[in-house]
Amino acid sequence: WYKTQENMLLVISMQGGKCRNQSSLVRLTGTKYSCGGGGCGACTVMVSRYNSTTKAIHHYPATACLVPICSLYGAAVTTVEGVGSIKTRIHPVQERLAKCHGTQCGFCSPGMVMSIYTLLRNHPEPAPEQITKALGVERNLCHCTGYRPIVESGKTFCVESTVCELKGSGKCCMDQEDGSLVNRWEKMCTKLYDEDEFQPLDPSQEPIFPPELIRMAEDPNKRRLTFQGERTTWITPATLNDLLELKANFPKAPLVMGNTELGPSIKFKNEFHPVFISPLGLPELHFVNTTDDGVTIGAGYTLLKHLRTLAGAQIRNMAPAPSFHHTSHLSLIPLNGPFLERSPEADLKSEEIVSSVYIPYSTQWHFVFGLRMAQRQENAFAIVNAGMSVKFEDGTNTIKKLQMFYGSVGPTTVSASQTCKQLIGRQWDDQMLSDACRWVLDEIYIPPAAEGGMVEYRRTLIISLLFKFYLKVRRGLNQMDPQKFPDIPEKFMSALEDFPIETPQGIQMFQCVDPHQPPQDPVGHPVMHQSAIKHTTGEAVYIDDMPCIDQELFLAPITSTRAHAKIISIDISEALALPGVVDVITAEDVPGDNNYQGEIFYAQNEVICVGQIVGTVAADTYAHAREAAKKVKIAYEDIEPRIITIEQALKHNSFLFDEKKIEQGNVEQAFKYVDQIIEGEVHVEGQEHFYMETSSILALPKEEDKEMVLHLGTQYPTRVQEYVAAALNVPRNRIACRMKRTGGAFGGKVAKPAVLGAVSAVAANKTGRPIRFILERGDDMLITAGRHPLLGKYKIGFMNNGVIKAADVEYYVNGGCTPDESEMVVEFIVLKSENAYYIPNFRCRGRACKTNLPSNTAFRGFGFPQGTVVVEAYITAVASQCNLPPEEVKEINMYKRISKTAFKQTFNPEPLRRCWKECLEKSSFYTRKLAAEEFNKKNYWKKRGLAIVPMKFCIGIPTAYYNQAATLVHIYLDGSVLVTHGGCELGQGLYTKMIQVRSVSVFSNIEEYACYIQLNNFFLRNAITLNAQNACQTLMARLHPIIRKNPKGKWEDWIAKAFEKSISLSATGYFKGYQTNMDWEKGEGNAYPYYVYGAACSEVEVNCLTGAHKLLRTDIFMDAAFSINPALDIGQVEGAFIQGMGFYTIEELKYSPEGVLYSRSPDDYKIPTVTEIPEEFYVTLVRSQNPIGLGEAGMFLGSSVLFAIYDAVAAARRERGLAKTFVLSSPATPEMIRMTCVDQFTDMIPRDDPSTFTPWSIRVS
Ligand SMILES: Cc1cc2nc3c(=O)[nH]c(=O)nc-3n(C[C@H](O)[C@H](O)[C@H](O)COP(=O)(O)OP(=O)(O)OC[C@H]3O[C@@H](n4cnc5c(N)ncnc54)[C@H](O)[C@@H]3O)c2cc1C
Ligand code: FES
Ligand code: FES
Repeated sequence: WYKTQENMLLVISMQGGKCRNQSSLVRLTGTKYSCGGGGCGACTVMVSRYNSTTKAIHHYPATACLVPICSLYGAAVTTVEGVGSIKTRIHPVQERLAKCHGTQCGFCSPGMVMSIYTLLRNHPEPAPEQITKALGVERNLCHCTGYRPIVESGKTFCVESTVCELKGSGKCCMDQEDGSLVNRWEKMCTKLYDEDEFQPLDPSQEPIFPPELIRMAEDPNKRRLTFQGERTTWITPATLNDLLELKANFPKAPLVMGNTELGPSIKFKNEFHPVFISPLGLPELHFVNTTDDGVTIGAGYTLLKHLRTLAGAQIRNMAPAPSFHHTSHLSLIPLNGPFLERSPEADLKSEEIVSSVYIPYSTQWHFVFGLRMAQRQENAFAIVNAGMSVKFEDGTNTIKKLQMFYGSVGPTTVSASQTCKQLIGRQWDDQMLSDACRWVLDEIYIPPAAEGGMVEYRRTLIISLLFKFYLKVRRGLNQMDPQKFPDIPEKFMSALEDFPIETPQGIQMFQCVDPHQPPQDPVGHPVMHQSAIKHTTGEAVYIDDMPCIDQELFLAPITSTRAHAKIISIDISEALALPGVVDVITAEDVPGDNNYQGEIFYAQNEVICVGQIVGTVAADTYAHAREAAKKVKIAYEDIEPRIITIEQALKHNSFLFDEKKIEQGNVEQAFKYVDQIIEGEVHVEGQEHFYMETSSILALPKEEDKEMVLHLGTQYPTRVQEYVAAALNVPRNRIACRMKRTGGAFGGKVAKPAVLGAVSAVAANKTGRPIRFILERGDDMLITAGRHPLLGKYKIGFMNNGVIKAADVEYYVNGGCTPDESEMVVEFIVLKSENAYYIPNFRCRGRACKTNLPSNTAFRGFGFPQGTVVVEAYITAVASQCNLPPEEVKEINMYKRISKTAFKQTFNPEPLRRCWKECLEKSSFYTRKLAAEEFNKKNYWKKRGLAIVPMKFCIGIPTAYYNQAATLVHIYLDGSVLVTHGGCELGQGLYTKMIQVRSVSVFSNIEEYACYIQLNNFFLRNAITLNAQNACQTLMARLHPIIRKNPKGKWEDWIAKAFEKSISLSATGYFKGYQTNMDWEKGEGNAYPYYVYGAACSEVEVNCLTGAHKLLRTDIFMDAAFSINPALDIGQVEGAFIQGMGFYTIEELKYSPEGVLYSRSPDDYKIPTVTEIPEEFYVTLVRSQNPIGLGEAGMFLGSSVLFAIYDAVAAARRERGLAKTFVLSSPATPEMIRMTCVDQFTDMIPRDDPSTFTPWSIRVS
């Protein structure tokens, strides 16, 4: 806690009330912590300040994890608890986010609420695009929902818009009586919630800004404030002179403004500063002056905000070489090359500060542009950016002055000054461009091993951005004098602009419930997620929200920095000497098995990957534990071989398991009789789960009988129990695992929590104290790994009409260093790899490679999303060879009637055909394809592409006993019901569906009697609803005679009567599971209980010059049987699709050649934001007879975006006369897209001989 020098406390207002002491700040757990670096928005709060000059109150959202507490002196902070709560009043923002189904796991929801709430405080009736911007620009990430319902909930506050505003009519076309679609899609519903239920927004009900803070802000006698902490001092000067004096006294002290650069450096790069100076709020730095010749912006002004408010002419015309003043004695520093390149003579002195930035307006015949390319359009650091300016001799196109600055091409901004000098006096024409490109590439050289990688792409961008500048200036010249300066070719126009950010829109369609269904029967209705309101009010409790426990210790991991090495020594002495440190735990402290089923808890003698846990530090605070973990010294000796990639594993014959294989027909024979044979390889890189709640465990050792209770987020509590018992060498009945909910999992919490649980339990056992182990985002990404990277090799034999006769496919996955779930992943890949296609002679083999990477694990779709990319790739390649459209070749080879799979299981593909047909028809595929071709003819630098993918996804597990499930149901004497089961609520709405199941809801007083649902640590996986149903039916049968005797009685009367009659009010439900089997010897079996089918069509636009793409539209048709809850099911389909889209396009894990994972934060690993989702998104649940499970299947449908990109790139390549078959692996990043759209610029860049250097990063697939 900080005190001022005068012994005053820091004064902050929380939730509208003054708080002066520490106790009033604690226990506000609604604000979530997910990345700690300002990159995810989970910790968003609203900060409000009073401006004594303008007399206005300004509300803005802030990521709490980067806001230094001292910077909040005099500010009012509102957290989600201050917006509304179940205990008091739920705010309309919270209510609508919940009722619009905008929450799944709920971990991102408080941040979403705060971003929308802050927007509404400033704009009570926002425009739809303000909602998208508020969520996109503030970087609110959600990895569950796919954003559509979140945006929709915000749009309900817009005056103009109802949610479906397809025609801008303010009314959903589906609800219009005469709407043409209504007749075609009979009995389909589109309303997932009822807007009439929403409370109105009443801005007068919001808390007022605390008058005391206004008085403080207006106090003319401002004094310097000094806050003294444990290790650091924070000083807020009162005036500019005071600031300069401080800077002179503490020349090394940083100035803290937004803390968005400083904060992450301190946290993640071990920077330490004993003194901070914070000039925030100094009026001398907070001003904007506009004059006739330019704008002066105070150094404390939020530039971004200002840029946005200026939003147009002035900014577009702003000059490239502004000056900026710096103080001690006021002086001007030109923002020129030497300054931007950080030349020492042009840099700030340590006692100097920036006071303002002056931006002169551009004049006539002077053009200035800023250009950039990033992995993701919004909120991503630039891959390359540039600022360019050209001044012409008046009335001519003769260059008088030219400046070009590039960012992200070296350690500082780089000026292409030589090139610019050489071009003075030249005409602005194609020859000048050609020379400029050559010279700039000579002048700005990015070495082949440069940090950040993507070297050839960055080189290409240097000249691609220059070309864009060239075109923009030519356009400008033409506008100045159309007679003298011809315009650029019409075909080039689309190269000029980046993709606009549109507010997404669409329709979700599902089967209406039968009108005769009783109103109290909830089956088939879009019931809100059972915890949704708690999610949005922040009252849903996650592991780290659980109150502190007496004697509790925090755990920080010590991880290996080598991929394969012998541990020579571990020196913990320095760590143990640090304050607060209680113990360092290593392999020697494991009382039981340290290597259980091949999974190692603490590394012993050797390390087998970077990120392997070697030890942990237990301390009184997490900060102390983390500091101490850095002080542990480990000496290593490298061991050969170090295997990082699949290629290296194949070379060393390094595998985790035997090969899995299925085969039908006679593949070799068939190859002899086909018209053509193609062979190829497809690389699919891995994926990070990026669940918003990182792995979190609370391990509580009990006093007696070696018992231990673990609270944790997991998908597999039984495995945690098993591993912990093994590590502690105690019977399993001593270990209890509690899992109420988790903030997302996606497969990442199947196997890893067992290892992390054992690591925590060993620490709890050794110290005898409760252990809180919450992984930082970076540690989580490093230690827990993710989806298996995959290499697919294929040989396909086909006829000229596109019929495939033979396929021989080999799959290799990068399994990492231990078995984990790799065997099952390979089995699933092999069994599901035919996808929707019948190939009479088919052989498929799969193997998991053992490498020195952290062990890859289960991930939504379990190998299917990787394996089927290879299938779609070879089908597309066949189409290309036969000069046929891919959709035609897909249709020709698709299963058509009741058939047997390659492993001889019978199935009926009728729903597949229906989804496919409906998708083609309702998406107007062929019409839009023609339109895209027209577009492509007219545009050289932007191309559109469409693709449709069919899906046959097998649900369940080939091992029968994995499918069993059980439930215990108790009815208490007040009529309330407790269902204890083994299902894990991950956000998929398991509990919600469970209480919707008819026989559960027959206790139909869900409304009246809370149906509490609790988890026990049984072994259970699927079919939870079925076994609850089973138990409830048993109980109803017992109650039936009582109900018959008193049919008008109340529920509690019947229960009381049953108790009097000694009727048991408890029952178990048991589901033996689907009787699946798979004989790998024969390659045959009834491997899966049922199949889910679907089809998706996506259309994209690709910028061939930069590699960016925009998803214009997606249509999904998904076989959903009869959905118990269409809102939850659509949520699963949309969420999985967006997760898949991210996997196939922008999510890219980067590894060093030594096996170090670089991408460990949302800054280096980009999951989709709200601005990446389809501009138009249509999802239809198609009814069939199948049982249902949609959560995993939808991932693969995201590959429709990958293949649409492929289609667009193919169009570009056709136009450029390039080879028609090309490799486009996954993910199709901007780098991949740009470098595949080969043109004069890609041809111009220098290429390096791969044998002459070691690249910064490598592909591990
Ligand atoms: C999640 C996230 C995303 C980001 N995305 C981007 C992005 O897309 N593109 C991008 O370019 N950057 C990005 N950044 C980086 C960051 O936002 C910028 O660098 C920002 O301009 C830093 O401003 P600040 O006020 O927060 O600086 P602070 O962290 O407060 O200070 C940074 C440094 O500037 C010095 N300083 C501050 N004020 C003065 C002054 N008046 N005179 C002299 N020195 C001064 C300080 O001493 C300190 O060393 C991102 C950062 C985060 C956390
Ligand atoms: S932005 Fe603060 S936790 Fe992610
Ligand atoms: S609901 Fe958004 S991350 Fe889970």
